[in-house]
Amino acid sequence: MALTSKGLWRGVVREYLKYLPPVKDECIVTLKEGNTPLIEARNLRDAIGGVRLFLKFEGVNPTGSFKDRGMTLAVSKAKEEGSAAIICASTGNTSASASAYAAKGGMKAYVLVPHGGVALGKLSQAMIHGAIVVEVEGSFDDALGIVKDITKDYPVTMVNSLNPFRIEGQKTAAFEVCEHLGGAPEYHFLPVGNAGNITAYWRGYREYKAKGFIPALPKMMGFQAEGAAPIVRGEVVLNPKTVASAIKIGNPASWKSALEARDQSGGVIDMVTDEEILFAYGLVASREGIFCEPASAASVAGVIKLKNQGVVKDTDTVVATLTGHGLKDPDTAMGVSIKPVRVEPDIKKIIKVMGF
Ligand code: F0G
Repeated sequence: MALTSKGLWRGVVREYLKYLPPVKDECIVTLKEGNTPLIEARNLRDAIGGVRLFLKFEGVNPTGSFKDRGMTLAVSKAKEEGSAAIICASTGNTSASASAYAAKGGMKAYVLVPHGGVALGKLSQAMIHGAIVVEVEGSFDDALGIVKDITKDYPVTMVNSLNPFRIEGQKTAAFEVCEHLGGAPEYHFLPVGNAGNITAYWRGYREYKAKGFIPALPKMMGFQAEGAAPIVRGEVVLNPKTVASAIKIGNPASWKSALEARDQSGGVIDMVTDEEILFAYGLVASREGIFCEPASAASVAGVIKLKNQGVVKDTDTVVATLTGHGLKDPDTAMGVSIKPVRVEPDIKKIIKVMGF
């Protein structure tokens, strides 16, 4: 008997071609990103009380974060335009994704990261994919400013979310949520750093509504870390601080469009403390079996906060995006978890540790 094709997923550019800027098929650079699971968090629901909560786990994308959705399109367009090199500033995930897609597309990647500010897994990704990694002795915001200046004068394509194709690719996550749920949720919670992703989801939802695919739009709920919350405070944060290194950003590039997403949807952009982030991070891992990175847990921390405030009701359908995989940042996981118990190879001692 011959094997039949199950219609393998072709990556977000080919799957959503109709809804994206056109790109020549032979220029498409893909690692088959997208089609990530929407997991109902029943155990979390018991822990936080009520709420039909779904987790969109973007950590299972090829490089372990949502960045791959936008990177496939940005790199494909750069290739189509004849560019031989890409550049980005990054807190880690964008650089990991850019490096991988550049490798796949046969292009050169330059990544500028804040020295000492990137989780181990992310840095190792950029290095193994062969990018030129520049550790800037400054912040992410410093690095982004320099990247903008470099691209004015040198033949390299910027693949930060200021590149419009990044946002276009990332909006496909909202399409998937609608398809998996059969409509939009009442609330969509996201971590906010440079604010590209909240911009992208909002665009995706509006486009599906305009096409008549979904009857209603969600409220967009963005969460920054308390020590890196320029949008919440209404001013640039010069020295941002948070355990969630991915969103340690003081002057987001998509600030204005994040405010639009908030205001047009009737949502909020609020903040959560590092303690709340780490609590949610541990809860998602221990109750749902999902290992996300600390920044990702800001979305779930936001759900818990607004549930406690009575804003989100038990009857609401809520989606929270888990933006990146926990394996990227093993140090934080080790720091907050119960330490392994070291014992001699003695069955009695081991059984005692087991609690029998
Ligand atoms: N979660 C993770 C895991 C991220 O890596 C980022 C951003 C965000 C959330 C915030 O998304 O910037 O679209 O608001 N990381 C960027 C980077 C800045 O360089 O990897 P955003």
